[in-house]
Amino acid sequence: MYESIRVASRGSASVLVVGQQKGKGLDKATAKLDTEGWIASAAKRAEASGDVGSMAEVNEVEGYDRVIVLGLGDGECMSATGLRKAAGVLLNRLDAIKAESVELALAGALGGSVKDEAVAGSAFGEGLGLAGWSCETFRGEATGAKPGLKLSLHPSGKRFTGGIERGLALAESANIARTLSQTPPNVATPAWIAAEAKKMARTTGLKCTVLSGRQLEDERMTGLINVGKASENLPRLIRLEYTPSGGGRKNAKPVVLVGKTMTYDSGGLSIKVGGGMKGMKRDKDGGCAIFGAMHAIATVIKPRVPVVALLVAAENAISDEAYRPDDVLTFRNGVTVEVTNTDAEGRLVLADGLCWACDKENPAAIVDMATLTGGVVVALGSTFAGMWCDDDSLRKKLDEASCASGELVWRLPHHDEYREMMKSPIADIVNSAPVREAHPIQGAAFLSYFVDKNIPWAHIDIAGTHAASSSKPPFIAGPTGFGTRLLAEFLDRF
Ligand code: BES
Ligand code: ZN
Ligand code: ZN
Repeated sequence: MYESIRVASRGSASVLVVGQQKGKGLDKATAKLDTEGWIASAAKRAEASGDVGSMAEVNEVEGYDRVIVLGLGDGECMSATGLRKAAGVLLNRLDAIKAESVELALAGALGGSVKDEAVAGSAFGEGLGLAGWSCETFRGEATGAKPGLKLSLHPSGKRFTGGIERGLALAESANIARTLSQTPPNVATPAWIAAEAKKMARTTGLKCTVLSGRQLEDERMTGLINVGKASENLPRLIRLEYTPSGGGRKNAKPVVLVGKTMTYDSGGLSIKVGGGMKGMKRDKDGGCAIFGAMHAIATVIKPRVPVVALLVAAENAISDEAYRPDDVLTFRNGVTVEVTNTDAEGRLVLADGLCWACDKENPAAIVDMATLTGGVVVALGSTFAGMWCDDDSLRKKLDEASCASGELVWRLPHHDEYREMMKSPIADIVNSAPVREAHPIQGAAFLSYFVDKNIPWAHIDIAGTHAASSSKPPFIAGPTGFGTRLLAEFLDRF
């Protein structure tokens, strides 16, 4: 896969890519490039259907080694999602033919809901950048090293080019989240993630503070201390802060992002069985997505409001020190929790983050993101993340960001009856109710005990969307970075 993908400032390209709408021949702008008629005849071939990602190729014409006619979908309803996919398919082809420079002449074929060339460029850039991700860090001597090529892009049109640059940058942030997700749990401990956050903060101008040990006790971070205490890899609270340059909007309160960052979820004493544990290195993906979003916020979005990220990082392990079913924990806000299942640990560490956000950050809004429940995977599969948000204005911004990023969220309900389900016979609430019904909603209901009623809040459960089980351009099987682009687009609208 490519080592880097950049917009070139000069030089020429060996591959030309033109766009094609479904069921149509060449558009006028493309026809102008086609002085010899070869491109038009390629566009008539059966494989040039115009469906998203269809491709027909001609060699050695118009001064290029190769011309690719790339399908962009139905002209009437062409979408950013379609452009991301088409870009992903294209990138895989460019990689296969070892192309090093490509001219993107797509403007003439754009249409549908993405007539705006900047928006189209961003989606196309995201698709190229996301498809370009791979993580070879953990290959050793037994795998032959493949030399990574550099790809230079020559897009046409100022707005489209600006969009491509934005999209590539957003993909870079999402790819940071994916690489963190991919990093195994013997490397990516809470302390390691904290060190990575400090490094990222230094290079992007964010502020980073990390709490551990006594500091967590002083701040009554009950969930982190208890969930994390069985592991040698002790918990951390990682706080990243973005301050707008020039002060930003006057008196703006911060948006606070809270991420479940479970570096490994063995289930604890309520141990995961039957293959349920494999893959739980990705139980940190809420925090990884927010890590990536903070990178995008600092480098691409630069919103006019402050943003604070709280990554609640721990490892849910087993030892004689482990917290246990039957323990009762008292949280920072005074709420007591009877532990009924140590595998429902995410909500306990998120509770700390939510209490901290309400108490210490004076937030305009809080958004938490977590691989919280297997139940959300049953409900929504890998297409939508579950979203709980009863604040209309906050929800509207998240819905818009969801459309723009293609990272889809679907609203699920809060209700007092769900809060009732979480009541404990001996403490205030339990961390896992005895019944399985409405499982992902129970998680949201639990969290609601830790958020002040007057603060706009959204909970997003990404257990179904944070990783893909098979390749689906622009993604390969593995981590998707879901949430980084959603939150970046969200802050772009704040
Ligand atoms: N980390 C898991 C949820 C999860 C499941 C994430 C599948 C990604 C893929 C979470 O901590 C968990 O174990 N949840 C339990 C809760 C139950 C014990 C109350 C679940 O959803 O089954
Ligand atoms: Zn768990
Ligand atoms: Zn978990």
